[in-house]
Amino acid sequence: MKNRADVDLSRLSTFRLPARAERLIELTSLDQLETIDPNADGPMLVLGGGSNTLFLADWPGTVLLNRLRGIQTRPLDATRVEVTAAAGENWHQLVRYCLDNGLYGLENLVMIPGSVGAAPMQNIGAYGVELADRLVSVTAWDWQAGQLVGLSREECGLGYRDSRFKSTDQGRYLICSVTLSLSTRFKPTLGYTSLQDQMAGRDPHSLDARQLAAAVMRLRRHRLPDPARLANAGSFFKNPVVERAEANRLLVDWPRLAHWPVADGRVKLAAGWLIERLGFRGHRIGDAGVYRNHALVLVNHGRATADQLRELINEITEAVATEYGVALEPEPRLIGQWAIKG
Ligand code: EPU
Repeated sequence: MKNRADVDLSRLSTFRLPARAERLIELTSLDQLETIDPNADGPMLVLGGGSNTLFLADWPGTVLLNRLRGIQTRPLDATRVEVTAAAGENWHQLVRYCLDNGLYGLENLVMIPGSVGAAPMQNIGAYGVELADRLVSVTAWDWQAGQLVGLSREECGLGYRDSRFKSTDQGRYLICSVTLSLSTRFKPTLGYTSLQDQMAGRDPHSLDARQLAAAVMRLRRHRLPDPARLANAGSFFKNPVVERAEANRLLVDWPRLAHWPVADGRVKLAAGWLIERLGFRGHRIGDAGVYRNHALVLVNHGRATADQLRELINEITEAVATEYGVALEPEPRLIGQWAIKG
């Protein structure tokens, strides 16, 4: 177990804001967990790939880097296979491993940055598929009970970019592994409009999994910045979900507003559309900016500070609230919270 003091966090978060932590522990084996007291040296924060956590302040305690590794497969019958991956594995590498081994179901989730352990935290999703569609169960270390527990998909409380790990039980569990149900038979999910556009002219029946994954990668490359080149944390705001009557009211004024019905009768609005229409694409405050190809993504052009980012977030949320009467909520975990205006 590696243990370091006074650690630079900027390289451990893909948004790369300057911040420090008192201590850092690298977790590489489950045996270590029994020896760690989560409250020994101030609060503990678990980090995986750091692609959904932004440090707007220093962390006054220990950061635990989840570096648990390993992937196992277990055939269930002629076509169904369960894949269990340790939380410290890279998500995109897991998707590639599955494609290489003829295990299908994750093609639409290719190229999502971050670790396997972060996937259930916020129920990652893209192009019509979300983790909840493939998840069987999670094993997690329960800091309260001091033991490893198994949680079924239902027990994870997954919602739109949400789970019990992010909400009611924040800080209680350290996700150790994730088990997914995949198939040896390829069945593409092609419902998402921009994916259909990308596949235009291609016969869906002759499509194979690699071609679908390649189409998703093309879309992502075009729409989303590569965190290795331009620091970012993916979508910065959730797509707001509003009552049907509220959506109807908005659609009278803005008939082109992109929107989708969701299961409970409410309607999800495209936050990117709302923000873009207000002229924010490419806008910046210092080095904190709105990505030029996608208004839902905020970026760090190099030396963005927490204050610049706060100002930018407030400017966007206030403008959206004033223009549309809609409240935007940040999607990533913001360390060093403050009251969001709007
Ligand atoms: N749009 C605009 N202007 C913009 C951006 C988007 O008008 O600047 C419109 C698009 O034209 C489209 C709609 O908004 O009609 C939706 O855009 P897009 O397909 O890019 O998806 P999104 O709703 O902005 C969500 C996820 C992404 C995921 C994509 C694809 C959230 C918060 N974000 O974005 O996930 O990759 O769908 O499935 O749900 C992430 O969570 O970090 C993430 C990148």
